[in-house]
Amino acid sequence: MPDTATVPASAPTAALLDAIRAIVGDRGILTEQSDTAPYAEDWRRLYQGRTAAVIRPGTTQELAAVVTLCARSGTPIVPQGGNTSMVGGAVPNADGSELILSTSRLNRIRDLDPADMTLTVEAGVTLKAAQIAAAEQGCLLPLSISSEGTAQIGGVLAVNAGGNNTVRYGNARDLVLGLEVVLPDGTIWNGLRRLRKDNTGYCLRQLFVGSEGTLGIITAAVLKLAPQPKEIAVALCGVESPEAALQLFTRFQAHDAASISAFELMSGLGMSFVLKHIPGATMPLASPAPFYALVELASPRPGAGLRGMLEQILEQALADEIVQDAAIAESDAQRAALWRLREEHSEGQKREGASVKNDVSVPVSKVPAFIRKATAACEALMPGIRVVPFGHMGDGNIHFNLEQPIGSDGAWFLAQDHAIMDAVNEIVREYDGSFSAEHGIGKLKPYMMPDWRGGAELALMQRIKAAIDPAGIMNPGKVLP
Ligand code: MLT
Ligand code: ZN
Repeated sequence: MPDTATVPASAPTAALLDAIRAIVGDRGILTEQSDTAPYAEDWRRLYQGRTAAVIRPGTTQELAAVVTLCARSGTPIVPQGGNTSMVGGAVPNADGSELILSTSRLNRIRDLDPADMTLTVEAGVTLKAAQIAAAEQGCLLPLSISSEGTAQIGGVLAVNAGGNNTVRYGNARDLVLGLEVVLPDGTIWNGLRRLRKDNTGYCLRQLFVGSEGTLGIITAAVLKLAPQPKEIAVALCGVESPEAALQLFTRFQAHDAASISAFELMSGLGMSFVLKHIPGATMPLASPAPFYALVELASPRPGAGLRGMLEQILEQALADEIVQDAAIAESDAQRAALWRLREEHSEGQKREGASVKNDVSVPVSKVPAFIRKATAACEALMPGIRVVPFGHMGDGNIHFNLEQPIGSDGAWFLAQDHAIMDAVNEIVREYDGSFSAEHGIGKLKPYMMPDWRGGAELALMQRIKAAIDPAGIMNPGKVLP
């Protein structure tokens, strides 16, 4: 490892940018402010950063050569995929000292093996493109998130994304067999093994998954695929409360837990934002409900009888007044339309106004109690605040999001984000939950780390960071306080 620890971090010089241009070519570097600005701001528009350049290497070797130069000059790097972070994990700071290293041109599918059920893919391939590539070979890449059309594999793994199918297949972490990573000194670690069993020392790949670009840059990965479902059944159910939604989930679990591929919760208010702001979104149920559950059953076995099972469980739940009303998708188009009502929740909320997000998890059985208590806490803290809980009820991950009171000032509302998040987190703690379930820590939540992960855990994380990135050039200011 070159001795970068003694080199002070400094703003990128013209000489450095010229040397980088010589590696990546003209199309691999953006320096005009109008070109770099969109990369320097996050999706939620919480952070407006500035950068001297966005570097877009076309190969892992180019990327490694750029990192080597940055290591020598002590220039901080912000790795960036699709820039869909909910916690400002991929934005540079505002002083222009950090370079953005975009993985978007590393966009090749290197290998897809339907016999081994593995996909070897570069970091800049979007999750959607990777899903399509798998489907074309009769396989399923079982990871689905609302931003999958834009989010890139490298970023998805760097934040250990969760999403809609965790209840069945686990998180991004559970799908990774191998990784290729460029380390902070520019070394390429090729760990692209596709083995199901490989007990050979520390599991390094899992160190980089969830590290949010603070330990190195993931440039390619081997992902585990699953058999493609041959039968899928989806229903949207109106329910009175999160308690009723949990009862419904429990019934599906008791009947055939292995067939559940998603179980999502939405609130009536969140749904109303989607219907109001998203063109083409329509409600298939006759009357609005206080909450909704979206259930998806899937099986790789043709003739699994999922449709019949769904009908049977829902009929009984209607009779028992657990469900108020339900719509079952009759076609692929209807299935997509039902999913759209769920997937557009973040966009609907964004268009409605300013929101504070709490991406939290609690044990599944505690979700209703958590929602009730956190709602009361937020309403007591700020009269008129609009509570919009939704998310992945089947795995206990609720996006306990808060929308600004009607008629209030958005900036005023956002300025109180810490007070709101702290109030919610107090309830999360009561249920032994987590203050970040799937979005990560980014720039938004490092201040919470000492409180939640302090002592031996945080100290160990800091020692790992110091060992792998002694000069601290990889995504500074993210994850660790
Ligand atoms: C989602 O599941 O749609 C996103 O992770 C949630 C969010 O916007 O908080
Ligand atoms: Zn989510």
